[in-house]
Amino acid sequence: MKLAAAPAAALGLLGCAAVAGAPDNTANARGERAFQHCYACHSVALGEEGLTGPNLAGIVGRPIAAMPGFAYSEELRALAAREERWSETLLDAFITDPEAVAPGNDMLFNGIADPAERAELIAYLRAN
Ligand code: HEC
Repeated sequence: MKLAAAPAAALGLLGCAAVAGAPDNTANARGERAFQHCYACHSVALGEEGLTGPNLAGIVGRPIAAMPGFAYSEELRALAAREERWSETLLDAFITDPEAVAPGNDMLFNGIADPAERAELIAYLRAN
């Protein structure tokens, strides 16, 4: 459980920061809750590595499969050859059904069906 504890702690800190300053606390809190689908494998804390998935700090607009030192699958690299960046549209499609966007990729995740929850999550990722 050591791996899961670190991002949980980081999220706790982010939560406090949001309460202190951001005007859209509620939206951010909902996005943070939606990120619970992801945080066992991903962190949004810059520089935090060692989880199953690549760090997602600044993922909105980031080039695909570009986190230095992460061993991406061939399938995700193939996606990077087809699409340049993680646009919000592409991210939304990937989170809906990772297998449909990059068949055979290493991310063992079924997807989030609820469009509102995906929108909150993407807003959260945009802010982190
Ligand atoms: C069970 C672990 C796991 C879960 C849960 C998971 N991911 Fe992933 N994710 C991965 C792995 C592993 C990869 C690398 C995939 C590859 O190389 O094929 C990845 C890759 C990604 C990428 C590509 C990053 C890049 O640098 O191009 C994005 C974006 C992403 N995940 C978002 C999410 C989001 C958002 C969630 C939650 C809704 C999530 N993931 C849930 C393991 C996971």
